[in-house]
Amino acid sequence: MALYMYKRAEHQKLYNKTTLKNLKNPDMQMMIMILLLCSVIITILFFTKGGKSNTPSSPPSLPLIGNLHQLGHHPHRSLCFLSHRYGPLMLLHFGSVPVLVVSSMEAAKEVLKTHDRVFASRPRSKIFQKFLYDGQDVAAAPYGEYWRQMKSVCVLHLLSNKMVRSFGNVREEEMSLMMEKIRKASSLPVNLSELLANLTNDVICRVALGRKYGCETDFKELMERLTRLLGVFSVGTYVPWLAWIDWIRGLDSQLEKLRNDVDEFLERVLQDHEDGDRGDRTDFVDVLLKIQREKSVGFDIDRVSIKAIILDVFVGGTDTSYTLMEWVMLGVFKAPKTNVVV
Ligand code: HEM
Ligand SMILES: *[C@@H]1O[C@H](CO)[C@@H](O)[C@H](O)[C@H]1NC(C)=O
Ligand SMILES: *[C@@H]1O[C@H](CO)[C@@H](O)[C@H](O)[C@H]1NC(C)=O
Repeated sequence: MALYMYKRAEHQKLYNKTTLKNLKNPDMQMMIMILLLCSVIITILFFTKGGKSNTPSSPPSLPLIGNLHQLGHHPHRSLCFLSHRYGPLMLLHFGSVPVLVVSSMEAAKEVLKTHDRVFASRPRSKIFQKFLYDGQDVAAAPYGEYWRQMKSVCVLHLLSNKMVRSFGNVREEEMSLMMEKIRKASSLPVNLSELLANLTNDVICRVALGRKYGCETDFKELMERLTRLLGVFSVGTYVPWLAWIDWIRGLDSQLEKLRNDVDEFLERVLQDHEDGDRGDRTDFVDVLLKIQREKSVGFDIDRVSIKAIILDVFVGGTDTSYTLMEWVMLGVFKAPKTNVVV
C-alpha cells in the first residue's frame, strides 16, 4: 500500500513537471495563444452573425423559468395569442429549453421540408426517455442510423400492405363484437368513447401481441397510467436545477414503478411467444422475434428494441386512432345529412 502511494506521488510529480515544462516551452505558449485568438474570433463571428437579423423575436421572459408562466391553462391559445404579437417565427424558453413556435404556412414549410433534418429529432424529455427505453424505439430515437433502421423494420415488416391486409379479419371480428354490444344495449345510452377506446385497444392488442389483454390482466390499467404519465409536466426536463421537485411530488417514483410494470408486462408477452407453439400465427412480436432470430435484416435487433417498438405501437396507435374516430362520429352527429350516407 505504502509503495503504491509512493509510486502515485512520484507519478504525480513527474506529471506536474512535464506539464509545467510544456507550458514554459515557447512553442507551446505560441500554440496556446493562437488557439485562444482563434476561439475569440470564432465567438465574435458567431454572435455578430446570429445576434442581429437571424434571431426570431421573443416575448420578454423571466430568469430561470423563461416563458413558462405565459402558457396558462390553454397553452395552444396562449401561443396563438403571443404569435399574433411576435410573428410567425417566435422563440420562447421553457425553463432552459429553447422552443421555436412556428405559426405560418411558409415558416412551417421551412421547418418541416426545407430544413427538416435540423428539426428531425424530438426534444429529449425525462419521461419519454424513461418509458421508451432511452430512445431505443422509433418515436423518441434521435435522427440517425439507429432511427433509420428501426423505422425501416416498422415500415417494411410491421406496417406493410401485406400485414395490414392480413389483419383484416381481426378488425372485422372486433367491429362486430362492438356492434353486438351496441345492439344489446338497445334503447339504453352507450358510452361511445369507451366503446371505441376498447375497440382500438383490442385490435392493436391482437395485432401486436397476438391476443387480447383485457380485463384478466392489468394491461388496460397499465396503458391508462402510461398515457396519463406521458402527458405530465416534468419540472426537471425544463428547469434542471429544480429537478428535485419531481422527486418530492412523487413523480420520479411513479415513473420508476410504471416503467418496471410495463417492462415486466412486455417481458411476459415476449416469454409467452418464445415458449408457446405459435403455429403460423404472426403478430408483431412474432415478426420481430423472427427477425432477431434469423438476422434477416442487415443489423441486429436486441430484446430492448423489440419491447420499445411494441410500446411505440401502443403509445402511438391507440389514443390517436380512437380520438380520430370519436371526432368523426361527432362530425357525423352534427351533420345529419352525412349521417344518411354513413
Ligand atoms: C389516426 C391515427 C394516427 C395519427 C393521427 C397519428 C399521428 C402521428 C404523428 C403526427 C406523428 C409524428 C410524425 C412526425 O413527427 O413526423 C406520428 C408518428 C408515429 N406514429 Fe402515428 N398516428 C396515428 C396512428 C398510428 C398507429 C396506428 C401507429 C402504429 C401502429 C403509429 C405509430 C407511430 C410511430 C411509431 C411514429 C413515430 C415515427 C417516427 O418517429 O419516425 N401511429 N403519428
Ligand atoms: C365515457 O367513457 C370515457 C372514457 O372511458 C370517460 O372519460 C367518460 O367520462 C365516460 N362518459 C360518461 C358519460 O360516462
Ligand atoms: C371496456 O373494457 C373494460 C376492461 O377491459 C371493461 O371493464 C368495460 O366494460 C369495457 N367497456 C365497454 C363499453 O365495453
